[in-house]
Amino acid sequence: MPSPAFNPVIIIGGGLAGLSLALRLAERGIGATILSKSVLDEGSTRYAQGGIAAVLGEDDSFRAHIKDTIEAGGGLCDRRSVEFVVTNAPRAIRWLVERGVSFSRRGGRARREFHLAREGGHSHRRVIHAADATGAAVEVTLEQMVRKHPRIRLMENHIAIDLITSRRTAKRAAKRGAGKNRDCTGVYAYDLRRKRAIALPCAHLALATGGASKAYLYTSNPDTSTGDGIAMAWRAGCRVANMEFVQFHPTCLYHPHAKSFLISEAVRGEGGKLVHADGRRFMPKYDRRAELAPRDIVARAIDLEMKINGCDNVYLDISHRPASFIRRHFPTISARCRELGLDMTREPLPVVPAAHYTCGGVVTDLDGRTDIGNLYAIGETGCTGLHGANRLASNSLLECLVLAESCAARIAAGADAARKFAPPPQWDESRVTDPDERIVVAHNWDELRRCMWDYVGIVRTEKRLTRAARRIALLREEIRDFYGKFRISNDLIELRNLAQVAELIVRSAMSRKESRGLHSMRDHPKRSARAARATILSP
Ligand code: FAD
Ligand code: SIN
Repeated sequence: MPSPAFNPVIIIGGGLAGLSLALRLAERGIGATILSKSVLDEGSTRYAQGGIAAVLGEDDSFRAHIKDTIEAGGGLCDRRSVEFVVTNAPRAIRWLVERGVSFSRRGGRARREFHLAREGGHSHRRVIHAADATGAAVEVTLEQMVRKHPRIRLMENHIAIDLITSRRTAKRAAKRGAGKNRDCTGVYAYDLRRKRAIALPCAHLALATGGASKAYLYTSNPDTSTGDGIAMAWRAGCRVANMEFVQFHPTCLYHPHAKSFLISEAVRGEGGKLVHADGRRFMPKYDRRAELAPRDIVARAIDLEMKINGCDNVYLDISHRPASFIRRHFPTISARCRELGLDMTREPLPVVPAAHYTCGGVVTDLDGRTDIGNLYAIGETGCTGLHGANRLASNSLLECLVLAESCAARIAAGADAARKFAPPPQWDESRVTDPDERIVVAHNWDELRRCMWDYVGIVRTEKRLTRAARRIALLREEIRDFYGKFRISNDLIELRNLAQVAELIVRSAMSRKESRGLHSMRDHPKRSARAARATILSP
């Protein structure tokens, strides 16, 4: 059991990236402490439906998966990163299977062959899945292992506030090369039960806090996706990349009581068609792959169709397939729809696009290393360049798994050399008081998310982005003022991070004077060869 006072490794986040990193470290004899701001399993991973992309079928090849990833990525993927993740995928899946994750098999459980689903942008069936609740199957299996593991300590209901860093001595900095002149030595966290902030020192720290889709009013993500890791890393001095590439999932259920409920892309993979209320299909006129085009194309087409036809949603119809097939392949989705009074075996489902995935993030190498010594970022928080301008469906869970393994190996390689740093200063609350008006925080949350939805959405214009930048600057000023004067709370910590990330998204979007992948600009509708590089912002 690691000492509560000093942690060899702190992992912030209990999603697939965080849990698999902790287990991979434990397999190497290294103890870790996992912090999660809610219960361990509350994060995007648990809600993942479609599955994990990997070359497992006989007719498939690494070449084809690499090609599909790069094609979806709009010419901005880092080829080395794509090759690394794709070629390590089958091994990563084997690791999950060996740990007991029960993936769907062809012809039922007794058969050995995995059932592989098809999703947008994939030229082959290559998505391994556990019916339509893959994330839950993975999360539950790994969570059970983590909870029992003697080398892993859990700190649930602790929200990380800010990283603690220290400047390197000139000698150590010179050894590590220019740029790496700071080390991460710990983190300040807020204990949400006891309502107090604590300092946690460590030798290595990994950010696995997920994405930032809560910056938008409508999202498929749970409440935890507030970009905390990206904002903390940025404030500590790390570069971030590609923040303008926010992925909107084309098909979230449109229903007043269905907060954030996704209708998996696998429904389209099994023949689901996008139609208007009168049954008219529209995707074939946008792309030869129709409903199975990459997400950026499908979400943009739906957005345009809704604007042209003045409707609030479109419909996804798979009712032509047998009811038994639909219930077997999509038990979670069909059950949830039934609870809401919708029968997908008989009628089309009302759907709209919603913010789903943060393609950008903290700049890292293929071991998750950031610009700060001993600080790593993996999963949706990091940006290895894998996704480029648009993520290929089901490549995200895959990246979590592959990067967790390489990051663990990297930490293990430097574990012996890990130093104990001087104890960090305690959190200072001497100059703050209890907030006088909590409504300010609640109001700013709403305003920020609406502003991002209205001005920085699926289709953007220079004018809208400028408006968003002005409003976000004002909101950030108010939040800074509030943060400096009053005691922190979960909402305030998250709002401060969301506003920071929103600013990074808008700044990145304003710098890209073209349309590419998920970044669609009405004033610059074409792709520009001159802009064919990642957007990298430095603090
Ligand atoms: P998460 O799973 O989001 O975990 C983040 C963790 O960090 C949480 O435990 C959270 O509580 C914690 N945390 C955050 N901030 C703090 C803080 N300040 N302090 C302490 N803890 C913190 N991808 C696929 O590849 N295939 C799919 O089928 C798929 N389906 C999806 C369906 C839905 C509905 C959603 C929302 C996403 C889907 N995705 C899918 C995307 C994928 O699920 C996520 O990108 C992936 O799970 C991210 O994993 P993660 O470990 O990086 O983050
Ligand atoms: C889905 O099931 O449609 C989500 C897949 C993903 O986000 O990769």
